[in-house]
Amino acid sequence: MNLSDAFARPIEYLRVSVTDKCNLRCVYCMPEAGLPWLHRDEILSYEEIAAIVRAAASVGVRTIRLTGGEPLLRPNLERLVAMIAEIPGIDDLALSTNGLLLEEQIGALAQAGLKRVNVSLDTLRADRFETIARRPGLDRVLRGIDAAIAYGLAPVKVNCVVMRGRNDDEVADFAELARRLPIAVRFIEVMPVLAYSEAQREEYVPANELLERLRDIGDLQPVLGPAGNGPARYYALPNSAGTIGVITPLSHDYCNRCNRIRLTADGRLRLCLFGDYHVDLRTALRAGATESKIAEMLQRSMLIKPERHHLRLGEPASRMRALSEIGG
Ligand code: 5AD
Ligand code: SF4
Repeated sequence: MNLSDAFARPIEYLRVSVTDKCNLRCVYCMPEAGLPWLHRDEILSYEEIAAIVRAAASVGVRTIRLTGGEPLLRPNLERLVAMIAEIPGIDDLALSTNGLLLEEQIGALAQAGLKRVNVSLDTLRADRFETIARRPGLDRVLRGIDAAIAYGLAPVKVNCVVMRGRNDDEVADFAELARRLPIAVRFIEVMPVLAYSEAQREEYVPANELLERLRDIGDLQPVLGPAGNGPARYYALPNSAGTIGVITPLSHDYCNRCNRIRLTADGRLRLCLFGDYHVDLRTALRAGATESKIAEMLQRSMLIKPERHHLRLGEPASRMRALSEIGG
């Protein structure tokens, strides 16, 4: 039987975090000093991840997205990609990355069977990149995006978290990028995670305001957008190679279309990005659970998938970190 939750939503999409570490420190995501990282033996091996993905595929999961932290920090990620690519039933295999290491790894990843990439990029100005991500790297990210396009990993999506006073004046520049390149630029409302809820209250720009600004630039038309199961709504300006999407965790409720669950780097199945609804698959796996036992645990976990999140402006989410969910 395929996965379907208590609200009759079919669950076909599993996000897999392969590491909690990151080589950036984006202000809305991580403190400058980093986080108390997981120990090596707490993190699932590639074999353990593949076993869980096989179990998930057996109950109808079709799409896998690899995330982090920054997934390209995990050594030989192409080995995991190859393992997942050959699992029957998995027909879409994507990656969410900050792009810093993309240029050098994309060849091996594409060769191993990766189909799509999302790249996080909040600014097109080098000095701002260093302020928002607290590390340099804009050029490398841009080269990573070009490399992903060159390798045909379409549709390449570029996720931009919009913050008033930090990058909201770059909406037109991102729209120009989407005119020039065959990419989907997606603007994401900043969410109140971690210790960022106070700043988020001031920096929050509702998607409708962004859409107004885009309409000032040109004739913005709703379009279907690229394939890929996402929570975005898409638009296009005339004569564009790409599209523009908005992702609205706060101003619109997209939870009713939620089709996803997540696996943390330490092997917990999280049923919602926010709140502490999870099931410990690692302990079961290491105690010898078979794949059909894991599939059964996935089935039962559906009962605790909540109907929606209750995020509100400036109110910190109950979770400690958002681990690159929304834009992915
Ligand atoms: N608000 C919005 N998006 C966030 N992300 C992480 N933290 C937040 C937040 N507070 C998402 C963005 C980013 C990706 C790495 O994680 O999509 O691009
Ligand atoms: Fe790293 Fe992504 Fe968090 Fe930025 S948002 S610190 S790139 S995990």
